[in-house]
Amino acid sequence: MAQRVSTSFLQRGEEHKRICVYDCRVENGKATQKFLESSGLDFNDFLKHLHKEFKIGSHETFVVATTDRTVLDFNKFEELQDGSTLYLLQHKNQALSVATEEQINYLPHYDTLIRSGMYEYYASEGQNSLPYALAELIDNALSATAKNTGVRTIEIRMMFDESLGKPAVIVLDNGCGMTSKQLNNWAVYRLSKFSRENSKFASQQEGYIRPDPVPRSLNSDISYFGVGGKQAAFYIGDSARPGDSKHIKNDDEHFLHALIAEESRKESFTAVVIMGVQPEHVTFLKKDFEVWVRQLAHIYHYYIHGVNGNDTRKNSRNSSQTKINIQITLREKPPKCPRVMDLRDVDNDMETLYINSAADTFEFKALTAQDGGTVEGVIRYHPFLYDRETYPKDPLC
Ligand SMILES: Nc1ncnc2c1ncn2[C@@H]1O[C@H](COP(=O)(O)OP(=O)(O)OP(=O)(O)O)[C@@H](O)[C@H]1O
Ligand SMILES: [Mg+2]
Repeated sequence: MAQRVSTSFLQRGEEHKRICVYDCRVENGKATQKFLESSGLDFNDFLKHLHKEFKIGSHETFVVATTDRTVLDFNKFEELQDGSTLYLLQHKNQALSVATEEQINYLPHYDTLIRSGMYEYYASEGQNSLPYALAELIDNALSATAKNTGVRTIEIRMMFDESLGKPAVIVLDNGCGMTSKQLNNWAVYRLSKFSRENSKFASQQEGYIRPDPVPRSLNSDISYFGVGGKQAAFYIGDSARPGDSKHIKNDDEHFLHALIAEESRKESFTAVVIMGVQPEHVTFLKKDFEVWVRQLAHIYHYYIHGVNGNDTRKNSRNSSQTKINIQITLREKPPKCPRVMDLRDVDNDMETLYINSAADTFEFKALTAQDGGTVEGVIRYHPFLYDRETYPKDPLC
């Protein structure tokens, strides 16, 4: 069952330690939530307090664990901060049968607040930066799904139907999801994967694990600087947050109900919801749908089509196709039909045009003797034929 998280800023100078405990011992029952005042208590005192509050029998066995399933002991208890959430379970791996909430406290880096929205995407080279901002979120989703054994699904949903709420951009993936600790880290600016602190509460998957090598840099090892997601989210809109149905207070966010209803069908996932989308972005995303979808198909060309690319002449489409599906949906107010595009079906992105218009190609691979590194690439030949260049021009420019 999904665990949902709400975020709030840390209030400094608070001395009291209030711990939220969910009693999850009864399977398929309701998880009773209680807040226990724990300042000044040691672990033994806390356990006594728990026994009393939750009426635990003296011979009953149980464990108290963090939401990351770290079983609490004397030291771990001391590290708990005010507002922490714990589970009372029959045993460490007991399944959660109901949704619980968890509060995450963090002090955002001032760069996150001040610089995030101002980012100019270098790669955009004077074009609209928005597709590159979306690409940051796709990069994160590719990293998160790198270890998937089955299909990797990434969806970008543009929710521009005013009857369902204010404009929002949702990026969904079926990857590993994020633990509460990772959500906390998400808000930290420039927490690069190499310096990411592996807290005592961090479970194994939170440390950096390099994905297996795949030829021509398709291994999704693309999260580096601890910057991208924040920059992108605040470039697109003015808020980014996970939430649940209890936090949907007004009509602005009606579409979130449907998103949450989808959760129960998923094993693990991440949904990034960006609200307060800048009006000029909404206009661009609606009006130039084809332009930015093509741009994304170009950026992720080899992720989608595999190392040979979208070579329609050789009909190698199926042989090199990958298990990465990136789908874009743009929903406007009915009677306008939703526009849905799978990036794999785009056949006029620049990379497809380069591949299919080349008169010849030269593939190379160079190995470096000392460190075993490999440089691979393709050189394409676009000759000047008769009286014109055969190098393809962008048809939408
Ligand atoms: N879709 C996602 N699923 C799971 N974890 C995610 C997802 N998006 C972000 N994260 C986590 O949040 C962290 C911060 O993301 P962010 O894009 O801000 O920085 P980064 O990816 O580490 O570095 P870069 O600056 O190269 O993007 C990621 O390293 C990852 O741990
Ligand atoms: Mg990133």
